[in-house]
Amino acid sequence: MARYLVTGGAGYVGSHLVLALIERGEEVVVLDNLRQGHRAAVPPEARLVVGEVGEPALLREVFSGPRFDAVFHFAALSLVGESMREPLRYCAENVANSLRLAEAAVRAGCRKFVLSSTAALFGDPERVPIDEEARLAPTSAYGESKLMVERGLEWADRVHGLRSACLRYFNAAGADPAGRIGEDHEPETHLIPLAIGAALGTRPPLTVFGADYPTPDGTCIRDYVHVSDLADAHIRVLNLLEERSVRYNLGNGTGYSVRQVIETVERIGGRPVPHSYGPRRAGDPAVLVASSERIRRETGWAPRFGALDDIVRTAWAWHAAHPRGFADRSA
Ligand code: UFG
Repeated sequence: MARYLVTGGAGYVGSHLVLALIERGEEVVVLDNLRQGHRAAVPPEARLVVGEVGEPALLREVFSGPRFDAVFHFAALSLVGESMREPLRYCAENVANSLRLAEAAVRAGCRKFVLSSTAALFGDPERVPIDEEARLAPTSAYGESKLMVERGLEWADRVHGLRSACLRYFNAAGADPAGRIGEDHEPETHLIPLAIGAALGTRPPLTVFGADYPTPDGTCIRDYVHVSDLADAHIRVLNLLEERSVRYNLGNGTGYSVRQVIETVERIGGRPVPHSYGPRRAGDPAVLVASSERIRRETGWAPRFGALDDIVRTAWAWHAAHPRGFADRSA
């Protein structure tokens, strides 16, 4: 049995990894401040430590037990829009917390670090699909903060031999196919939960941000990738970290427009998605689609929920069963 630390393990993507690790019989410690995360998202088999990743005394305590085989780092500020109002807070917190955590890992003799990174590293890309050779040019402070963390981790590798995997997710979506956990953000800014909420009547009608993009139907195109597939990728990279650090873009490689997502939600849910058209949202690139050839080739990763229908079906099931998210689950 291996022992893992998962920061942000009570959050959306982190909790799906925790579940996957527990199912494999691993020992898991979750460190989460529960500001975005949910206690009910953490399975009872995992130990939950409530606190801040950037708190040195807490880090010393967390790392004082038996050595972790790897650290998975999800805890971060992650709202692109908010990062443009508070860029210094985003850079300061995300960078300092991540690198303090890496420092604690090095000091404790842990040699593997997996970072939750983002497509926001690529800003407005020159070409799609976006592979790992694409220019790193964030257009938000959020993306910049993750790029700074990736760079810090390169130095940790060179100097301390801390091997890292930086996984740049495109649009994380969907929910545990067994229906145990799912997406519950406050505020919610992501398209799929907002569209489903509008259809269920638990959220206001959706506003489509712009229909004048240079795409076939005028709305933005994104690459939606299932959270359980993301969790699987985190586990697959561990072996490679014996040898070297890696950087991977993670998506399905297929883009869907906002209109296509709405149509899919309507078809799967059997209800209309009330919506209207509004202006563009600042900073939204027209098309973001990943090339994940590298991780497929080097780890054998392949999405199990590659079809948008499957992603939306699992998300719909979660939201329909838990209209108030985890508040309904723990009730
Ligand atoms: N959208 C709407 N209406 C809404 C919400 C979203 O039309 O109410 C549109 C957006 O304009 C975008 C698409 O739906 O075209 C997807 O938007 P999301 O907010 O769900 O996701 P983003 O593509 O903006 O964000 C994702 C990740 C971020 C990452 C970013 C990189 O969630 O973490 O890609 O650009 F930083």
